[in-house]
Amino acid sequence: MSQAARKILVTSALPYANGDLHLGHLMEQIQTDIWVRFQKLRGHDCLYVCADDAHGTAITLKAEELGLTPEQHIEKMHAAHKTVSEGFLVQHDNYYSTHSPENRELSELIYQRLDTNGHIARREITQAFDPEKQLFLADRYIKGTCPKCKTPDQYGDNCEACGATYSPMDLIAPVSALSGATPVPKQSEHFFFTLPAFADFLKQWTRAGHLQDEVANKVAEWLDADLQEWDISRDAPYFGFEIPGQPGKYFYVWLDAPIGYIASLKNLLDQRGEDWLDYWSADSSAEVYHFIGKDIVNFHALFWPAMLHSAGFRTPTRICVHGFVTVNGKKMSKSRGTFINGKTYLAHLSPEYLRYYFAAKLTSAVDDLDLNLDDFIQRVNSDLVGKVVNIASRTAKFVQKSGGTLATDVADEALWQRFQDADAVIAQHYESREFSKAMREIMALADAANEYLAAKAPWKLAKEEGTDAEVLAICTQGLNCFRALVMWLKPVLPQLAEKAEAFLGETLNWHSAITFRGGQNINAFKPLMTRVEKEQVDAMIDASKETAPAPKPSGPVADEPLADEIEFGDFAKVDLRVVRIAKAEHVEGADKLLRLTLDLGGETRNVFAGIKSAYAPEDLEGKLTIMVANLKPRKMKFGISEGMVLAAGPGGKDIHILEPHSGAKPGQRVM
Ligand code: MSP
Ligand code: ZN
Repeated sequence: MSQAARKILVTSALPYANGDLHLGHLMEQIQTDIWVRFQKLRGHDCLYVCADDAHGTAITLKAEELGLTPEQHIEKMHAAHKTVSEGFLVQHDNYYSTHSPENRELSELIYQRLDTNGHIARREITQAFDPEKQLFLADRYIKGTCPKCKTPDQYGDNCEACGATYSPMDLIAPVSALSGATPVPKQSEHFFFTLPAFADFLKQWTRAGHLQDEVANKVAEWLDADLQEWDISRDAPYFGFEIPGQPGKYFYVWLDAPIGYIASLKNLLDQRGEDWLDYWSADSSAEVYHFIGKDIVNFHALFWPAMLHSAGFRTPTRICVHGFVTVNGKKMSKSRGTFINGKTYLAHLSPEYLRYYFAAKLTSAVDDLDLNLDDFIQRVNSDLVGKVVNIASRTAKFVQKSGGTLATDVADEALWQRFQDADAVIAQHYESREFSKAMREIMALADAANEYLAAKAPWKLAKEEGTDAEVLAICTQGLNCFRALVMWLKPVLPQLAEKAEAFLGETLNWHSAITFRGGQNINAFKPLMTRVEKEQVDAMIDASKETAPAPKPSGPVADEPLADEIEFGDFAKVDLRVVRIAKAEHVEGADKLLRLTLDLGGETRNVFAGIKSAYAPEDLEGKLTIMVANLKPRKMKFGISEGMVLAAGPGGKDIHILEPHSGAKPGQRVM
């Protein structure tokens, strides 16, 4: 029963060339790689291509920070990303870059078709411009005081303190985060992809089986709210491709990024003398799968199919969306040491542990996936070492002792039938990306094989006279179970499979049924996998803490120029005193303020301080801090404030009051 070979192209999202690959990126690549390896093992013609996403402002800035040209920087990142992917046994047929001649050519071609079809609109827009750096500033590169609640140091699109959203030019005293200069509004012409023209096409396409249901539902919300035209141009200076015939205008990074999938394929097929259009022409019978994270669905399920449709190419067969990796139930965090780079993981642990753990938890849904480190250790050790490898290590030696040749017949028909029945089920789970179900099924069969061996106990039997044939039959049965398990696990554990293949003396392929192997010789058994030790995991977490970069400096010096110089006399006018916070209370109706009663060593002061986001009142009471004691009392909405306490930090939870040495006495002057 052989199936016709399918022609399949698979991609995972193109990682940005401005940072290392972390376990989130690797989960995606491992998920994709398992699916691809499964297809190849089944005999299908399957290609897996990826690339670095090399364009855009973030990459220019990162290169600048490192003292490199963008070209030098992306070349380094490309090599680093490739090494890490390979370290995790991710087998790309091509790992390319969006900064490539093929991608330029294809981006120009697609853009020109969109333009010819009337799907590119042009109009002037006004944006914040950094007069010092001479460039337009994306919202995240502008900071200033929130126009609503007046919290300083907020980003250009929304306020962390009060949640207000606004346009960056509404900020009070906006500054460019790049230069500290005050941005000015400036007009320029931009190019837009007319997405609304594709509303009907997208309503149909997104319900035609290309998306998971939950994704299609989310996309339907966007389609029901009105679609906006998509700004696809950026003004010079910009690291990317110049728009043909439009000097000084560049393609926005997200225009050429997905085209990078095609460019990577083209680069591969050109070398093989094959045609990329076999995969991408409108009438192609090949299948195309994009594996992506939930944060980039709009680009892949709206813009991308609409662009392809306009340009006369086929659209993807399926967009496979996954959730985010968390570690020990929380977002990956640099301070907890759970923001784990691929490189750091590989310095301490085998890639197959993580591949198996991810496989054991991956489903076809968009749910986040938690890497619980205790569970990780427990599961890998108990499933892989305790169940699978154990079967071979308990049986191989008896086959060796009897001459190294397997018995010819099935010893336990019922057990073997169970294995045969499971084959198609496991394949179906892989095909539908229900890897956790596949792993559960495989481990249940491993349990069955171990139970069989425990019941037959060939190691006891071998001590009795005249049992050689029986012992060999039992161990042959055990090894056939092991062989099937390894074959099913081969997409997940290619290294373990390779070692097992050396021992079994054959290359395992997944045909439509498993066969019983009898009468052949096997080779000497070598240990296949060692246990994960907690020390290794701890060392990895420690190393992740070390490599975490220092938090980005923020505050006056980092973000704004220093104030004008003052005379000593000016400073001496400020009377700073040590105070004890005698009482701290919530203020009804104020979302940022706490009312502090400050003990100045005899007299008390009432001060309102904007530190509610960082402190609960009970944390403050009893603490020493510093106040400006001779500040003119100020009438506020909630009462009179008689001075100020000193605090520092970027805002939100990260505000810290200044605390003097514990020996300081309330009332003492600070100089
Ligand atoms: N460059 C774009 C993709 C362009 S595709 C034409 C991009 N790059 S990325 O480096 O930010 O992310 C690459 C992939 O990794 C995305 O699919 C993203 O969802 C995924 N992940 C990034 N962090 C992740 C986790 N913490 N967990 C799981 N996947 C995550 O987006
Ligand atoms: Zn605000």
